[in-house]
Amino acid sequence: MAFTKDFLWGGATAANQYEGGYLEGGKGLSTSDVLTAGANDKPRRVTWKNPQTGETGSTDFGFGGDGRAVPEGAQPAVLDGEYYPSHVATDFYHHYKEDIELMAKMGFKTFRLSINWARIFPNGDDETPNEQGLAFYDHVFDECQKHGIEPLVTLSHYETPLALAINYDGWVDRKVIDFYVKYATTVLKRYQGKVKYWLTFNEINIMDMAPFMAGGVIDGTAQNRAQAAHNQFVASAKVVKFAHEFDPEMKVGQMLAYGPLYAYSSDPKDQLKVMTGMQSTFFYSDVQTGGHYPNYRLKQYEREGITLNDTPEDYDLLAKYSADFLSFSCYGSNVVTTHKDVSGGAGNFMSGVKNPYLKTNAWGWATDPDCLRLALNTLFDRYHKPLWIVENGIGWNDQVDADGKIHDSYRIEYLQENLASMRDAVTIDGVNLMGYTMWGCIDLVSAGTGEMKKRYGFVYVDRDDKGNGSLARTPKDSFYWYKKVIASNGEDL
Ligand code: BG6
Repeated sequence: MAFTKDFLWGGATAANQYEGGYLEGGKGLSTSDVLTAGANDKPRRVTWKNPQTGETGSTDFGFGGDGRAVPEGAQPAVLDGEYYPSHVATDFYHHYKEDIELMAKMGFKTFRLSINWARIFPNGDDETPNEQGLAFYDHVFDECQKHGIEPLVTLSHYETPLALAINYDGWVDRKVIDFYVKYATTVLKRYQGKVKYWLTFNEINIMDMAPFMAGGVIDGTAQNRAQAAHNQFVASAKVVKFAHEFDPEMKVGQMLAYGPLYAYSSDPKDQLKVMTGMQSTFFYSDVQTGGHYPNYRLKQYEREGITLNDTPEDYDLLAKYSADFLSFSCYGSNVVTTHKDVSGGAGNFMSGVKNPYLKTNAWGWATDPDCLRLALNTLFDRYHKPLWIVENGIGWNDQVDADGKIHDSYRIEYLQENLASMRDAVTIDGVNLMGYTMWGCIDLVSAGTGEMKKRYGFVYVDRDDKGNGSLARTPKDSFYWYKKVIASNGEDL
């Protein structure tokens, strides 16, 4: 048997893309609520208003790191006449019972979801939590418990309360560490006995590429991104410390966006590019899971004149309270090169050049049948801590056939290859793997493009890119396939 009998099979979601109910039950606005829909060739936009002049507008939202999310003097804001996919998303807020039942039918052992911080502390820095928000997640976790499903909860998944972005420039300000720790301890205490597994920040390394999304940072300079990341590391360590002292049953993990990088050629310069590219990912896990700042990043800060607003206690905390386990997302791999004459980009966050050996989906994301085995081995060798694949899957513009069904054989094929590679990492290489949660197990809004048509789910949701549709749920062919995979504990792919 490849997997332990308590292996955590399941699916993953995030409030900002799934939950909806954006102003219901006393929820405040969060950063995702001011992001419009885009497309593969059209960036999402952050909408804004200048409170002094009344001027309104929008800024293209890219994954380029530097740059301001909104112009000086303006504040991100919800504007009339714009369409924001997060506001309803696929309405988990009103469908949670039905959805959790569908997950139970597939045999889920675990369900990854995020708590929307602004549902608990509407402005992020409120004195007291919003009871209606707390009660909503009570109902959700009770429903999970009813079906014997173990929740895996992300505390912050691209959903920083908008007021923190406006008033503090998000995670750039050290005060946000305390607000977050207050929020985290509130929910850890409230859901004791219902939630054991926690993740502090989704894809923490996205701070380098999309600081507004990762941490409500409006002024995304390199200096601010470094500070915001530092503040998140410290906050994460404080949550680990609290959890260990409060309830030793609780486990707090890191969540990293990971994709192996390949060199386009055997030119050593391409190998060096892989090395430095991987360092920009490893930096985040070296600190949060490894417990220390690596020299390559300290040297980079020295070269770039970046100085951190830090304290000696920060580094004590980081060393003593590193993450209990390392979870990560992995959709495929990317290719990099120093050769200017090589063209053909890929559409992933970590874009590079096209890999001639791999197929891509309509968004240019490469399907790499070996990426999970490579990722698992690399991360296990580096940190020797338990791992958890918390995102993997394929976005596809699924169509409902004449028979009313969704025949997503391409998804089954993708998952067959990926799960076989995951199984090899366990059976051949002996990697310690806790679980697997397929991304977007019930269709939800794409984070990168804001589209509905980039679907990942085992369950189809009737909703389109303009917000039309009944929100009715229909199991796809992959639903029945995954049920069989879980029932056989990964033997029958
Ligand atoms: C991960 C994020 O980067 O990838 C998810 O954690 C996101 O929020 C997923 O949805 C897939 O990306 P996309 O852009 O296809 O939604």
